[in-house]
Amino acid sequence: VPERKVAILGAAGGIGQPLALLMKLNPLVSTLSLYDIANTPGVAADVGHINTRAEVVGYTGDDNLYKALEGADLVIIPAGVPRMPGMTRDDLFNINAAIVKTLSSAIAKYCPHALVNMISNPVNSTVPIAAEIFKKACMYDEKKLFGVTTLDVVRAKTFFAANANLPVADVNVPVIGGHAGVTILPLFSQATPQANLSGDVLTALTKRTQDGGTEVVEAKAGRGSATLSMAYAGALFADACLKGLNGVPDVVECSYVQSTITELPFFASKVRLGKNGVEEVLDLGPLSDFEKEGLEALKPELKSSIEKGVKFVKQ
Ligand code: APR
Repeated sequence: VPERKVAILGAAGGIGQPLALLMKLNPLVSTLSLYDIANTPGVAADVGHINTRAEVVGYTGDDNLYKALEGADLVIIPAGVPRMPGMTRDDLFNINAAIVKTLSSAIAKYCPHALVNMISNPVNSTVPIAAEIFKKACMYDEKKLFGVTTLDVVRAKTFFAANANLPVADVNVPVIGGHAGVTILPLFSQATPQANLSGDVLTALTKRTQDGGTEVVEAKAGRGSATLSMAYAGALFADACLKGLNGVPDVVECSYVQSTITELPFFASKVRLGKNGVEEVLDLGPLSDFEKEGLEALKPELKSSIEKGVKFVKQ
């Protein structure tokens, strides 16, 4: 098993800590590099006592960011502020955009060849922000930048399985579009195994998947947004990226990447992962009429979120 260094930026946060734990349990990781602006030493010491392969190193402070990143094969970014009740993902924009800008500039400088898994919201905009920063630094490789949309897939699988009365571990549902509200489009017509659900049920399942983040924000009542399920989803996607890097064939996951699959420059869809990141963006496949409508309906919002990210860097 090759040596792989994985860095987590924002490792002491609500997502970062369980994500650090899950990555420490991943046998594909040889060095787990944890970075945060606060509290990293404690998290690194704690996680570091677990007797699995990965050697854990913790860094804090601007001056040490380069050490966290140097030699990284994969950088996962859950740094930022979470969404609180009443806030939309876009309310987070200005704070998180600035954080992502700083961290992307450091990646460009210290580990320009690493794969980047963006978790910081709004992902629809933070991925274009990272892309613009990377372009400015002349190291942008569109095959290596990913917005993590795996939580939407995880939710769609859970909600579909429960309604269809199927064992949840056997269920697969592709989710396309973006990673906020109506831009999230689960393709239940392509779910496996198929189930005979009514149009009304499919509409409700689509809406619940789109509102999954809000459901958690409201249930947490002022104490943040999804952290544990997000960490699980982030760890799952990171594992797929590492498998791809290691040459495991046929690793396919949905992810928000630069593509030409639609007229939008960034779009989430099924992606085959390989030694250099994105190996192939797969066709959307046949859509139901309801999904075709959903696809057209999501485009204006996704387009404006992408433009907002690009504008943030350009001005
Ligand atoms: N560099 C590194 N870490 C940072 C930086 C920075 N410039 N700025 C903030 N952080 C850290 C914080 O110190 C904190 O430990 O990011 C962590 C964020 O953790 P939480 O506040 O608990 O937020 P969390 O719930 O984990 O969500 C983080 O992920 O899904 C998104 O919407 C969510 O954008 C939010 C992000």
